[in-house]
Amino acid sequence: MPMVNVIRGEQLPDAVFNVRTPILRIPLWMAVVWWLVKGLVRTVVLYMRFWYATVPASVLLYLWARFGWAGPVTLVGGLACLAGVWLLVHRVSFLRFGWYPVLGRWRRIGYRRRWYPAMATARLVVNFDGHVVVPVLRRVKATASGDELTVRMVTGQIPDDFAAVGLRLTHTFGARSCRVAAGRRADLVVLTLQRADALRKTIPPAPVPVVPDLAGLVLGRLEGGEPLRLRLFGTQILVAGATGAGKGSVIWSVIAALAGGVRSGLVKLWVFDPKGGMEMAAGDPLFERFACEDFAAMADALETAVGLMRERTRRLRGVTRQHIPTVDEPLVVIVVDELAALTAYLTDRHLKDRIKAALGVLLTQGRAAGVHVVAAVQDSRKDVLPFRDLFPTRIALRLTEPAQVDMVLGDGMRDRGAVCDRIPMNMPGVGYLVLDGDPSPVRVRFSYWDDDRIAELAGTYSGARVIDGQVITGEVL
Ligand SMILES: Nc1ncnc2c1ncn2[C@@H]1O[C@H](COP(=O)(O)OP(=O)(O)OP(=O)(O)O)[C@@H](O)[C@H]1O
Ligand SMILES: [Mg+2]
Repeated sequence: MPMVNVIRGEQLPDAVFNVRTPILRIPLWMAVVWWLVKGLVRTVVLYMRFWYATVPASVLLYLWARFGWAGPVTLVGGLACLAGVWLLVHRVSFLRFGWYPVLGRWRRIGYRRRWYPAMATARLVVNFDGHVVVPVLRRVKATASGDELTVRMVTGQIPDDFAAVGLRLTHTFGARSCRVAAGRRADLVVLTLQRADALRKTIPPAPVPVVPDLAGLVLGRLEGGEPLRLRLFGTQILVAGATGAGKGSVIWSVIAALAGGVRSGLVKLWVFDPKGGMEMAAGDPLFERFACEDFAAMADALETAVGLMRERTRRLRGVTRQHIPTVDEPLVVIVVDELAALTAYLTDRHLKDRIKAALGVLLTQGRAAGVHVVAAVQDSRKDVLPFRDLFPTRIALRLTEPAQVDMVLGDGMRDRGAVCDRIPMNMPGVGYLVLDGDPSPVRVRFSYWDDDRIAELAGTYSGARVIDGQVITGEVL
């Protein structure tokens, strides 16, 4: 008769070996001591892990036991006074080293509470080999405009997986937006959740520098409140935005940041306003060349710029790889308010071809020779697209469709947080761009130059101009 193997009433198939685990009998006191030791170790671990809550609680408890209510009240009151004095004396260091670290700890508790459901519904939790693996929330850093969450990804995940669900995370954590960037280590990702909006109000213009900093023109403000510095040296700038998005403020901010150089003769502005001249005409005294209706003049000017560039390139060949602007060899910045008017809407085919050819040459070779183009465009889908890739620096203001974001800024940028189609109409001058050294888009607002300020700028900084063979300076004009 075969042996029947029965464990807990279940009949099991015959096994080759039948193993019986030995039963070790220990006295009760030993088990109790073991439980106590285990409990104690766990308590100590928990105490140390949550030191930021347990240590203050112990101190307060000790003071209460020793001095009654007066103890903890005196300590809390004293600390509050100290913090108040610090805040009044040096607000920046108080926020940086006092307030934000505490706020970060506090907010971390909230994030941790919602972390698992948030990760699960965003499908960032991985099921592997019967285990559930969740990305780990490593650190929460509070900033003026929101929180920076450092997260350790599950093996096999990449920052783009988080970027793809950025909008979902935004709503889950009750933020206004979520930007995703790679962390300092390959397994880390940084989620920047924006709460307050430092860009809600119009940004007043920054003072005009006497010598323009071509490696960092101050054009407005970053989301965190810091100044927005944009490099002009060695790049070409394209600004895209729907009508009324504030392209004018970008152009005027660039012109104003260069105005010191215009006065000293280090920078020459050639400005084309093919939409009739209403936007740019007020700055005429600042411009060495200005054209608004005459498309032939614009084509001539672009070809002159190509000639200048070729001549400089020939001279600098073998001497240097980057032209340095001087008063004799100034930087030429060509500003075009509506690029599509030159490259797409122009009906004269011959003129259009001339303009396109000259622009193509300037955009590909101009930067080393000190010839730059700053162009604005309303509709990024039109014929400007072939030129798009020739602009290393691209700024996207409010756009009408989500698909246009990637068209302007590059593939995947909307997923990484550049939600230009969601910028409200009542926030002109707000946009997204990719800054040097950070592949994810940042939200910015450009300074607003109203008509009075533009008139003042034009009056103060106009450079020397040649009119009828005579050199005339701005002050005389
Ligand atoms: N940075 C800014 N901050 C606050 N308000 C702004 C800013 N830029 C523009 N505005 C406001 O928005 C209006 C439209 O801006 P602007 O003329 O620059 O738009 P645009 O993008 O050039 O539009 P269009 O394509 O029609 O020329 C301006 O009249 C001004 O009142
Ligand atoms: Mg405009």
